[in-house]
Amino acid sequence: MDLRLAGRGALVTGSSSGIGATIAETLADEGCEVLVHGRNAGAAAAIAERVAARGVRTEVVLGDLTEPGVAEQIALTARDFGVQILVNNAGPFAEHDWESSRASDWRAAFEGNVLPTVRVSQTLLPSLRAHGWGRVITIGSRAVRTPLPNMVTYSAAKAAVVNMTTSLARHLAGTGVTANCVSPGVIVSPSMYRMFEERAADSADEGNAATAATETEGPVDEADIVAAYAANPTGRLGRPEDIASAVAYLASPRADYVNGIELRVDGGITGTP
Ligand SMILES: NC(=O)c1ccc[n+]([C@@H]2O[C@H](COP(=O)([O-])OP(=O)(O)OC[C@H]3O[C@@H](n4cnc5c(N)ncnc54)[C@H](OP(=O)(O)O)[C@@H]3O)[C@@H](O)[C@H]2O)c1
Repeated sequence: MDLRLAGRGALVTGSSSGIGATIAETLADEGCEVLVHGRNAGAAAAIAERVAARGVRTEVVLGDLTEPGVAEQIALTARDFGVQILVNNAGPFAEHDWESSRASDWRAAFEGNVLPTVRVSQTLLPSLRAHGWGRVITIGSRAVRTPLPNMVTYSAAKAAVVNMTTSLARHLAGTGVTANCVSPGVIVSPSMYRMFEERAADSADEGNAATAATETEGPVDEADIVAAYAANPTGRLGRPEDIASAVAYLASPRADYVNGIELRVDGGITGTP
């Protein structure tokens, strides 16, 4: 199926690695021109090179989205690049529980996940409206529906992202610009992988080593992770490609009639309707 994305401009925040990088490459595969974003110049340039290899126009914009004024600056660069598709992907996670989390942890979760989405979207909205067609895609989490006891700040911030996506879709009624959210399950990205490595090391320290080499990236056993942390009816961890495919569909004109939804791409882990 031709997604009719050829020639459309896209910004993917946090596309210098992880899920965002795969979204950038997938959109490029569909003919999108892609503005790659991250903080690490070398990593962002490497992804831009992979995007350019698909024969589409690409540029890099750098900046820490939690720094004052940076989100707005990135959005203005996106406007000048001709972006019609905004993917608010960057969104750090951290482990905090109810008893030990401090105000600064809650602030960091919202400053990393909520405010960049608000600021980049707000600044880009006038030009999306002017195009008469556009997409705002946010990235939620399975933690939205099933808050994780060890990630309470992140879970709450991601719930806010879904809520904001719904209100934005309503706000944009009649403009040709839609807003939708993709909520990943447990996806094998570098940061997620690091977290499981740390857990495997802790587990090994406690004498429960689960450290056989696997097809993923090294000394963490995918089957053990699925069983311990991510039991789902599909029976595996997610891949960045699973998320990128969903984003590409929602970004496309094929999804013109899909608006204000949370699309859960989580292997069924959430278990709620
Ligand atoms: N992986 C999962 O299992 C999972 C599950 C549910 C939801 N999600 C969500 O999916 C999205 C992508 O996840 P991921 O696992 O690919 O994350 P990741 O590996 O941590 O993504 C890192 C990307 O985000 C950028 N980034 C992080 N903080 C930034 C900041 N303050 N300013 C600018 N860029 C920043 C990084 O840039 P540099 O490296 O250049 O600094 C890099 O491009 C996130 O919203 C995450 O919450 C992931």
